[in-house]
Amino acid sequence: MTVHIGAKPGDIAETVLMPGDPLRAKWVAETFLENAECVNQVRGMYGFTGSWKGNRVSVHGSGMGMPSLSIYANELIRDYGAKTLIRIGSCGAMQHSVSVRDVILAMTASSLSTPSRGIFREVNFAPCADFALLRAAADAAARVGTKTHVGGIYSADVFYDERPDLTEIMTRHGILGVEMEAAELYNLAARHGVRALAVLTVSDHLLTHEALPAEDRQSSFAEMVEIALEAAFA
Ligand code: ADE
Repeated sequence: MTVHIGAKPGDIAETVLMPGDPLRAKWVAETFLENAECVNQVRGMYGFTGSWKGNRVSVHGSGMGMPSLSIYANELIRDYGAKTLIRIGSCGAMQHSVSVRDVILAMTASSLSTPSRGIFREVNFAPCADFALLRAAADAAARVGTKTHVGGIYSADVFYDERPDLTEIMTRHGILGVEMEAAELYNLAARHGVRALAVLTVSDHLLTHEALPAEDRQSSFAEMVEIALEAAFA
């Protein structure tokens, strides 16, 4: 057990999918995994371990924002031996070429700051995805048939941003979408020598203000999970 995860040693698989929402973790376990068992429910942050096509896999909530993700990813890597961590979540689109329901594979994750800022200080470290995972996810997305974009995203500190100029700057520099966790996941993966990727479904659009209808969320999320699982075990 760690401070935030009640799982026993060995309860967590080397491959962990990380949705922000713990109830999504439960849904993924019930929908995609065989013999899934709940291994954590401290503070309602569910974690499950089961198997997918014969491969042992865990799915564990990260919570919202980089400080929350940092707690769970640190403990999963350092205390439970996680070696491949794939964030599965939603993002807001920042380009007209990207539409709601599309999937974004985050090659890099820019930010204003991350919880690692205290370590990097004057260094502008470039958080990036694991290339083999990224390539496998792009191949899997092509098989699944989801319209997919590969490129840079922006990991924000706040959902309700008071700086509209930031969206303009990010859009002008080709950033595909905004979410709130990937940059620190990539920082931690680099620090601990493990693999990470963020697979994101577009839930809203910052330029057109379109939003994914509630009834479409589940099916979009399911395609993203399939892409993540296929990439993890390619
Ligand atoms: N996640 C999904 N949509 C988002 C947005 N517009 N900003 C930040 N995180 C998000």
